[in-house]
Amino acid sequence: MSRNKECQCNQERRSLLVGAGKIAAGAALVSAGGFTMPQLAKAKAAAQQWPWPYVKLDPAKTAELAYEEWYRVFCGAAVISSVFSQLREKVGEPYTSFPVDAFVFLEGGQVGWGTVCGSNAGANMVANLIAGPRIAGAKEGHLMSEDALQWYSETALPVFVPKKPKVAGEIVKTTSQSPLCHVSVGKWMKASGKPIGSAERKDRCARVAASVAYNLVTMLNDWKDGKYVAKSTHAPVRDFGITGQFNCLECHGNGVPTPPLAAKK
Ligand code: HEC
Repeated sequence: MSRNKECQCNQERRSLLVGAGKIAAGAALVSAGGFTMPQLAKAKAAAQQWPWPYVKLDPAKTAELAYEEWYRVFCGAAVISSVFSQLREKVGEPYTSFPVDAFVFLEGGQVGWGTVCGSNAGANMVANLIAGPRIAGAKEGHLMSEDALQWYSETALPVFVPKKPKVAGEIVKTTSQSPLCHVSVGKWMKASGKPIGSAERKDRCARVAASVAYNLVTMLNDWKDGKYVAKSTHAPVRDFGITGQFNCLECHGNGVPTPPLAAKK
């Protein structure tokens, strides 16, 4: 028993040492790769200053990039990549250091759990990274996120048709009335009769990511020009005393429960 414990301990210590070795080797690689400490410090400083430098992008080109990237990193990371890959070239830091591929987990409403559609999550990350978080005094990232979710919920998607579609022919359009992956994909599958693993469903989601990227860049371009006006009127906590979508009846049927605070009023 105690021997076992000791064994484990030693093993842990050994892997810690190996880990430390790896870090040292990694550091050597980084400096060999041409990154100097001042450059890293500069990149870090750039990442913590809002707004992030933004130059206007072509929405259609961005959508094409998102469509192609969907087939590599799926919805959320595809939307981030479509914007940041262009800004890497046009601006550099902090986009160069941003690890886009880590956000592949947004796929399927986060690892297949069907929560918020990854395209929305990706778009809202981009909006808040560029415009800055609301606690830093910039409201626009927050407002653009609200607008993005409302637009997604109310629009017959996908809007965008790629120049070279991987699936030929018409793709059915559906309005989800929800920013959730599960609801959005579910309603589309019901309307189209196509299962989750079909080429059509995949292409539909790739085109949805592209549509979201198009909408996002349209908002960012307006924001850059100083003419962005928030459209969303969504204030569930104020209006209902709970976070949520407006269409309570769609999930609750007739008996919408009343949250405790609202009940007290
Ligand atoms: C996307 C589906 C969905 C929507 C839209 C939705 N809810 Fe819910 N809500 C649920 C589910 C699922 C539960 C947990 C199970 C349950 O109790 O029905 C829940 C639970 C609640 C609860 C906790 C109390 C309870 O009885 O479980 C309240 C309060 C509530 N919802 C209020 C609302 C209000 C108000 C709205 C509209 C502003 C709303 N919900 C919209 C799915 C939804």
